[in-house]
Amino acid sequence: MPTVNEAAWILEPKSNLKVLPALYSTPLQDEIVIKNQAFAIQPLDAKIRSQAYIDVPYPFILGNGVAGIIEELGSLVTRFQKGDRVVSDTPTYQRKQSKYGGWQRYVVGTESTTAKIPPNTTFEDAAAIPFALLTAVAALHLHLGMDKPNTNRNGKVLIWSASGSVGGYAVQYAASVGYEIVATASPQKFDYVRKLGATEVLDYKDAQIVSKLKQLGPYDFVMTASGDDKGANAISEVLQPSGGRFASTRPKSEGMNLADNVSLIYDFFSTATQKAENRSFTSWWYRDYLPTALAGGVTPTPLEKRPGGLCKIQEACSDVLEGRSSKKLVLNPQND
Ligand SMILES: NC(=O)c1ccc[n+]([C@@H]2O[C@H](COP(=O)([O-])OP(=O)(O)OC[C@H]3O[C@@H](n4cnc5c(N)ncnc54)[C@H](OP(=O)(O)O)[C@@H]3O)[C@@H](O)[C@H]2O)c1
Repeated sequence: MPTVNEAAWILEPKSNLKVLPALYSTPLQDEIVIKNQAFAIQPLDAKIRSQAYIDVPYPFILGNGVAGIIEELGSLVTRFQKGDRVVSDTPTYQRKQSKYGGWQRYVVGTESTTAKIPPNTTFEDAAAIPFALLTAVAALHLHLGMDKPNTNRNGKVLIWSASGSVGGYAVQYAASVGYEIVATASPQKFDYVRKLGATEVLDYKDAQIVSKLKQLGPYDFVMTASGDDKGANAISEVLQPSGGRFASTRPKSEGMNLADNVSLIYDFFSTATQKAENRSFTSWWYRDYLPTALAGGVTPTPLEKRPGGLCKIQEACSDVLEGRSSKKLVLNPQND
């Protein structure tokens, strides 16, 4: 009997999601089919759903990262077997094909962007961690040139807005490399950010934030995880008089007033492993770093399991965009 698949479809730009049947796609040579057990709602997915933030062909299935059980393997796949528990970053927004969309019961992934889930790690944690962790590590390591874990003994890093998902992983990665971390966050999150590895945490709303951060510097690496205008402008001042560069989760905007000697480095950091030029990083990521991180190497962003499966994605997206949850929202598409 053919496998029955179902998805939360977006039929036209910015329209409400509809749960409808979807094709079960057999895998191409280097592909795998995953019986999807968990996916996290990322701000990116939510923005594409409600704002058509990235151009995709409609009707379409959104979502680009899933955790589940391998159902079927392509003929050239060697690293996995049917029944393996895996986490996969799928090329939904690069190849723009619905078979890769995470918001369905059976998802197609590629062998090169898939990792085994360690035995004691839940599907929910495995689904929630990689996107934000990859964003932080790609920004710091690939774009700013920070080295790999346990390779450094001195130096300082500034992480602006360290209490969220990306910021929290940026703190942990930089600390694991060996840097001293200065961070900003809301005061109620200071203890949490210290536990992640920051030695100093300051309130980003403090009127004296620039002078305080300057006193604690200089910094070898700087990143803003919120990517907002105020943070970028403050960083530009902190970097004076010599200037420098910093990574930002959001692109340069009109509200930013950066000094001429300061450059903002922006990319879709979360898609780093989909790019051919990052082949060696990608191999390290899925074979080494990510499995270690999932096995307890990082403290996960707190997550919330949302019941209701595919039918509840839209509500979860609104909660993410409107800031109604400080946790990563994770759903299981096999649930009704
Ligand atoms: N470029 C990429 O590849 C990429 C990838 C992933 C995410 N992103 C973007 O990165 C951003 C963060 O994503 P996330 O998943 O880490 O979100 P998140 O977990 O919701 O964290 C957002 C954090 O931002 C802080 N914040 C809110 N307003 C702020 C402000 N005005 N100034 C400074 N900090 C503020 C909050 O910290 P407090 O509670 O301490 O105030 C919150 O913890 C989003 O805009 C997302 O779209 C980009």
